[in-house]
Amino acid sequence: NAKKKLLNKHFLVTAGPTYEKIDPVRFIGNYSSGKMGFALSEALADEGAKVTLVCGPVSLQTTHKNIVRVDVESALQMKVACEQVFPNADGAIMCAAVADYRPKHPADQKIKRTRDDMSIELEATDDIAATLGKLKTDRQILVGFALETQDELANAAAKMKKKNLDFIVLNSLQDKGAGFGVDTNKITILSDGNKAEEFELKKKSEVACDIVEKLAAVLAGK
Ligand code: C5P
Repeated sequence: NAKKKLLNKHFLVTAGPTYEKIDPVRFIGNYSSGKMGFALSEALADEGAKVTLVCGPVSLQTTHKNIVRVDVESALQMKVACEQVFPNADGAIMCAAVADYRPKHPADQKIKRTRDDMSIELEATDDIAATLGKLKTDRQILVGFALETQDELANAAAKMKKKNLDFIVLNSLQDKGAGFGVDTNKITILSDGNKAEEFELKKKSEVACDIVEKLAAVLAGK
């Protein structure tokens, strides 16, 4: 089909949360459903691209034959998988809600309740998007997401620069129906040298098409 924009291209997409082990039965996680990343994978595949979808623990199914799914649990596992895939890809969309911190010393045995208070020492995880940003060649495109509660545009722009992204998708928390778990999203796309592009509140599948269209346009200019 001549209309497909991303034939013979290959993209990495990350999606979902990561789980960071506290002990064999407990973890630190977050409410990311993976819906946005899965919708993006479908939209890329619909344009003829091959997709490697690296996802944390989610309860979603992939159906498209162009999507190869790699299931991981922790930020470290996600990073290892991404570093392996990215060098052979035309680009990546970093949609996962990766844990910023993990327990420094996960316990081998279930921790017992023996005290009134307890604390868990945490250490920072690696920034996967920034890691890929350093590996990125001129031909590759790298897209990230930002979810901000204050100074949204300035913070998102700073993240784009720090992680060496081509563009960043800002999720607005101002709007009901945007963000975690729900089927809709409202985004603003920031790219270097362009003014912010604001989109309407839409189904995540439609938001995914807007993002993929932008990605195809930026990639075509490389
Ligand atoms: O810095 P912040 O977490 O707000 O950045 C969000 C963007 O960076 C998202 O694209 C997210 O997938 C990515 N990220 C990552 N690895 C991390 C933290 C964030 O890939 N450890």
